[in-house]
Amino acid sequence: MLNRLETQSPDALLALIKLHAADPRPDKIDLGVGVYRTGQGDTPVFASIKAAEQKLVDTQNSKSYLGPEGDTGFVAALVPYVFGEDRSRFGHIAGMQTPGGTGAVRLAAALVQKAGLERLHMGTPSWPNHAQIFGDIALEFVPFEHANADGTANLDAVLSAIRNAGPNDGVLLHGCCHNPTGVDYTADQWEAIGDAIAETGIFPIIDTAYQGLGHGLEEDAAGLHSVLAKVPEAFICYSCDKNFGMYRDRVGAFYIMAKDEDVLDKAFSNANALARASWSMPPDHGGAAVRLILEDDALTQMWLDELETMRTRMRQVRDRLAAAGQTGGVDLTPLGTQNGLFSVLPVSKEQVAQLRDDHGIYMAGSGRLNIAGLTMDNIDKFIAAVAEVTG
Ligand code: LMR
Repeated sequence: MLNRLETQSPDALLALIKLHAADPRPDKIDLGVGVYRTGQGDTPVFASIKAAEQKLVDTQNSKSYLGPEGDTGFVAALVPYVFGEDRSRFGHIAGMQTPGGTGAVRLAAALVQKAGLERLHMGTPSWPNHAQIFGDIALEFVPFEHANADGTANLDAVLSAIRNAGPNDGVLLHGCCHNPTGVDYTADQWEAIGDAIAETGIFPIIDTAYQGLGHGLEEDAAGLHSVLAKVPEAFICYSCDKNFGMYRDRVGAFYIMAKDEDVLDKAFSNANALARASWSMPPDHGGAAVRLILEDDALTQMWLDELETMRTRMRQVRDRLAAAGQTGGVDLTPLGTQNGLFSVLPVSKEQVAQLRDDHGIYMAGSGRLNIAGLTMDNIDKFIAAVAEVTG
């Protein structure tokens, strides 16, 4: 039976973790998988999470089952951050906890497929796992060019994909801090996208995995809000992996917004059934820790401060890269206006391999780099290596 299977290559991005770990060079630089690093190159547990985990150990009196929707207190506590204070302009909202943002994307894809979605339009490049998830459930996805060569968003491409979509099509958008390009839509562009979605009736799925890592919690949700205010139905996939540093604890949420409450109930019952059949119930620990932070003003402030420190440090790295300007064959200037953990350098696969082999610099094969992997101690080495390899 099992011999009929074809060997699959390991996930290229996750394989970089092992490659980097095995490299003995002391000045190697890890710009691969998307985890935040401090100026010292560490990925520590947030102090707010440590405090919440302690509280959880002290106060949790049962680990009995909660149900497919997970910790509903966690899901509710996130709502003001995801949807903002003025929620009356949106339809009704229901949500559930998921195993990471990946669980939410998987659920969204399975649910639209069950509802009869024929094709999902998505800007590329995108997070490679998006295409893997759609491929795994045989959901057809149609790519459009997400970014222009000058490092700005290709608005024409997304508007044309939306306007030419069929009645049973959907579109997947990144809420902020686009992975991998760092290229976000402006407020005006989001307005235009929301109008186009409302006109054509294409179904929007908005994947928000980096809220707070761009310009701030409110600012990073503004695009999502402008779309939600215009459309009758939408899915929102949310990850706490980055903005709470919960990576391996897999903390995510899936929200459905619908103007019609009966439609919302029907859709939510299907999401529940799919979650039950997929993972039965999400892991509790990380969501409970996030809930304890958001229910406590002092812990919330501690978390907001930690988030701001991350954002400020990444902005400093971006400013420093942008100031380097033309570096060999690559212009680093656009990285200064892009957002979040990632940007993509226009380098070939061979140049990525050369950066790794000759300089111990680990980036994804696509040319994506994790901005937070750079520190004031290694950034000059990185810029010099890019100049040498591409010059
Ligand atoms: C990334 O893109 O590096 C992260 O989102 C980690 C992952 O799961 O791919």
